[in-house]
Amino acid sequence: MVIKSVNLEIVCGVTSKLPATELCEVAFAGKSNVGKSSLINALMNRKSYARTSAQPGKTQTINFYNINEEIYFVDLPGYGYAKASKTEVAKWGQMIERYLKTSRQLKCVFLLVDIRHEPGNNDRLMYDWVVANGFTPVIIATKLDKINRSQTARQIKTIREGLGCGDAKIIPFSATTKQGREEIYEIIDKILEDTV
Ligand code: GTP
Ligand code: MG
Repeated sequence: MVIKSVNLEIVCGVTSKLPATELCEVAFAGKSNVGKSSLINALMNRKSYARTSAQPGKTQTINFYNINEEIYFVDLPGYGYAKASKTEVAKWGQMIERYLKTSRQLKCVFLLVDIRHEPGNNDRLMYDWVVANGFTPVIIATKLDKINRSQTARQIKTIREGLGCGDAKIIPFSATTKQGREEIYEIIDKILEDTV
């Protein structure tokens, strides 16, 4: 995939109506702070076009990045943000659920988990939710640069067992070294080929 243009085209708040888009979409879901916006920046070849933060809860809207006038990368708000109130969490759930259920153009959901940690309840819920809506999530194990190479296989196994995702694809990825990026581009390229 060659990035020719990127444009944050639609920002969707909790109460806003979800857009009826024409281009196909791939979405990025995962716990707050796991690296969704950083991954999107790495894919877009931009340093900080998608806003990132060491403080969890940075992205609180559904952001649609138009890539090459060809496809949207959809940055979803993160879950498990400790400071969020119960009402906020409930709204978040409704917003994500509505998006997963109603988007006609959504072709693939990438579920991000931190390669260093065992998946939590929220990760499992999200995984099940994505599956229940008819998608086969592609798991991305983020922050690969934070572990030793010798630990990778074991951490992948922990994630696989923790999510109960069988032989689903798990791609180790680092936004720092860009390791794993080509594999993600290949998946997106395939989606584009299939929708032509
Ligand atoms: P929310 O918007 O709060 O849901 O978070 P997010 O999932 O979009 O995370 P974001 O991309 O903002 O990254 C959170 C923090 O982790 C930032 O400080 C990033 O610099 C850092 N980070 C993200 N990916 C990586 C990575 O691959 N390696 C390292 N070392 N740090 C990363
Ligand atoms: Mg974010």
